[in-house]
Amino acid sequence: MFRYVKLEYPEIAGQGLVYMDVWPIGYPIIAVYNPNMMAQFIQENSLPKYWAMPQVEFKYFTGGEDLVNLDGPEWKKARSMFNPGFSAKNLLSLVPDMMEEVLVFRERLRKAAASAEVIKLTNYTTDLTVDIVGRAVLGTRLQTQVGPNRLMQLIKSQLKLIYFELDLPKQLNPLLPLKNWVYNRMIKKELAPYILNAAQNYEKIVGPKTIVTLALKEYVNEVQNHNARGNIPSEFVERVVKHIKIFMFAGHDTTATVLAYIYYMLSKHPTEAAKLRAEHDEVLGPDPTAAAGLIRADPNLLNKLPFTMAVLKETLRLFPPVGGSIRQSPPGHFLTHPETGVRYPTHGFMLHSSASTVLRDADYWPDPDDFVPDRFMTRDESDPWHPVKNAWRPFEMGPRNCIGQELVFTEVRLILALTVREFDVEEAYPADAPSWMGLKGYQVANTEAISTAHPKSGLPVKVKARK
Ligand code: HEM
Repeated sequence: MFRYVKLEYPEIAGQGLVYMDVWPIGYPIIAVYNPNMMAQFIQENSLPKYWAMPQVEFKYFTGGEDLVNLDGPEWKKARSMFNPGFSAKNLLSLVPDMMEEVLVFRERLRKAAASAEVIKLTNYTTDLTVDIVGRAVLGTRLQTQVGPNRLMQLIKSQLKLIYFELDLPKQLNPLLPLKNWVYNRMIKKELAPYILNAAQNYEKIVGPKTIVTLALKEYVNEVQNHNARGNIPSEFVERVVKHIKIFMFAGHDTTATVLAYIYYMLSKHPTEAAKLRAEHDEVLGPDPTAAAGLIRADPNLLNKLPFTMAVLKETLRLFPPVGGSIRQSPPGHFLTHPETGVRYPTHGFMLHSSASTVLRDADYWPDPDDFVPDRFMTRDESDPWHPVKNAWRPFEMGPRNCIGQELVFTEVRLILALTVREFDVEEAYPADAPSWMGLKGYQVANTEAISTAHPKSGLPVKVKARK
């Protein structure tokens, strides 16, 4: 929407921002289009998240007490606690676990290819990313690729109750608090055993650090007495549950849509697909079935796939699952246009960094609507194709950027390395399906539950085995 506002009103938007009062449908908003002006409230001075995020959107889901919504010293403490889970070293040690899940995914693609049926690609990629995030967060196999998982079903059902802006059926539903209370109870019941088990057996835990073990580390340091660990206070369990829920939510839906879009883009751009496969042949050898063994033996091979990374970055540029950040501006706050020096007051508005607009803005990207992974291959800063500073921001920037981005880089490279040489996908939208910007798989909002921007109709495709 913000992108089309900019295209429709280029003179206003050219000033770097647009004020929109959409009350009572939504909150009064300032959409910021200039990356340097974004930096003023996202990077140089990271303003707190907009009040309605913790108090309305996530009020029942976590009460705002999670890494996405917390602010100030509490956020800082939580971020430092979870950062080690996303270090390059820890993520590489997670590769064998992730691989087990990717091999299930590959098998499902094989079956889909053999059946020649039309599948919704995002259903497959979502199950996969849920299973991967289950490994990273809980250190367990959720096996949603094999059958429904109760924990994930509960989380998804609760997400359907969330609203942010005007939504009368939800807002006026007298049962909303009760339903949320029941979901919170059931989810806590599902998650508590992981937390209690980790507390009891903390010293024996081996393998990669997970969100649960990292949270427990803090607790174990506080309570040295081993016997006390059997009686973990309920408030502590609740605190960890809230973090787990937000990680499970933030960590699957986003990656699943990007993955689906990558296969979609490769199907539309055979030259780029051929380059990607050539890179995999070169780094992982010509036999695709040997790749899993090679990567298991040396996960670092994933760091030697620059074109694969460029494909991921370019897909995120064209189809960012998250539109940007929303922040709370304090009284007396201004944004200054870097060239004109004009100062714009912001207080009283929801301050939005419209990353999705910048990512396709012709001022920063040559041929902004084209799929050109090579723009991320150039190292020469004077090259007009070299990305402009602050313009590539699908994970946002500054201290509140996405903690999970390295996990995304690792898992997507792994998944592509184990699948793109074996399969092609072919879009299977009905012949009369509408298209937008030349694509039937354009991005849409999920009207059912809060989530990220999804490909229309879950991206129906036919999977074909490559010879
Ligand atoms: C392609 C995939 C992903 C995209 C595009 C994405 C994007 C983003 C963006 C734009 C933000 C900033 C949100 C804001 O300012 O309100 C964010 C924050 C966050 N993301 Fe991601 N994300 C992805 C995957 C993940 C994964 C895999 C995880 C974890 C397993 C994760 C966990 C988080 C968390 C916890 C935050 C809050 C960080 C903080 O404020 O300290 N994300 N993400």
